[in-house]
Amino acid sequence: MHTKFILVVGGAGYIGSHMLLALRAAGFQPIVLDNLSKGCRDAVLDALLVEGDIADEALLNKVFSTYHFAAVMHFASFIEVGESVRLPLKYYENNMAASLTLLKVMLQHNVKNFVFSSTAAVYGEPKYIPIDEAHPVQPINPYGKSKWMLEQVLQDLSSSHGLRFAALRYFNAAGADPQGRLAERHHPETHLIPLILQAARDERAAITIYGKDYPTADGTCIRDYIHVTDLCEAHLLALRALLEGASSMTYNLGTGRGYSVEQVIQVARVVTQCVISVEVGARRAGDPISLIANAARAQRELHWQPCYPELETIVRHAWAASTKIMQEV
Ligand SMILES: NC(=O)c1ccc[n+]([C@@H]2O[C@H](COP(=O)([O-])OP(=O)(O)OC[C@H]3O[C@@H](n4cnc5c(N)ncnc54)[C@H](O)[C@@H]3O)[C@@H](O)[C@H]2O)c1
Repeated sequence: MHTKFILVVGGAGYIGSHMLLALRAAGFQPIVLDNLSKGCRDAVLDALLVEGDIADEALLNKVFSTYHFAAVMHFASFIEVGESVRLPLKYYENNMAASLTLLKVMLQHNVKNFVFSSTAAVYGEPKYIPIDEAHPVQPINPYGKSKWMLEQVLQDLSSSHGLRFAALRYFNAAGADPQGRLAERHHPETHLIPLILQAARDERAAITIYGKDYPTADGTCIRDYIHVTDLCEAHLLALRALLEGASSMTYNLGTGRGYSVEQVIQVARVVTQCVISVEVGARRAGDPISLIANAARAQRELHWQPCYPELETIVRHAWAASTKIMQEV
């Protein structure tokens, strides 16, 4: 069979680098384009890395002329909600405008399959839980808005140019490669589990809980943590469906289970066997009380089933992988 080249933009980042492993294991040939503004060169395992920006039209033309891509997978975004509120232009420029350049060049080269990292942030403040795809879309920060804008562009291009896309709205990606080849590394780190693990290692004095007066059992916010390997498996299924001719699709990706911040810290104490100090800060503006996915559509249509839905497994993999990678550096 012919090897299929897949362009993975943002493939040096946390989720993109895990995607490379999944693509390789499934027999695809991923080519990475990443400007390394946030990602790590050493996270690109067994794939070619082209260092550059998705806003660079000349570079994109060169890459698309060199390889005949079966599809593009798009992970290249800025991801910090709080920063997006302070610096909206940075987010609209990178997450929106730069993506338009990518889409334009891609269509010029007649590549019409697109897998897009969208987010639960498109829903804004939940009107009901668990959140399905029929939930109203009302993003409340520039990060979520930039993703929703791009989803709408994709719908238009679907009608005008026959683009076929999978818009995958993830809840909280977490965990790490079960074999420990990759870990979660954001710059700066803002995600709960790696921050808790830093506190376990004494790399930070304590983990801050932002608000302990929410109307939940222990007063802390509830989130749906999806193992990054399960997330990548859903991408693979969506990619295969597109390559087999499926029409455009939008899916929520989460486990449907909610864990409070306090519960995550408790699980991390059990997994790491370390003391994890906690301090309580004020609530953050725009933090919903609870975000839990209804991913029934992806389960039904893609036949996707998370292999690692247990929080304990997610934290254990994150701890093992980050420990291993620290030892190697
Ligand atoms: N991590 C999560 O929990 C989560 C949840 C929902 C959605 N997402 C989405 O998933 C995607 C990946 O998230 P992540 O956690 O792996 O983030 P990440 O920051 O680890 O990865 C993003 C990668 O994109 C690269 N990049 C950014 N702008 C670029 C540009 N203009 N040109 C080329 N490369 C560029 C960065 O260098 C980085 O390697 C993002 O689009 C994010 O919005 C993530």
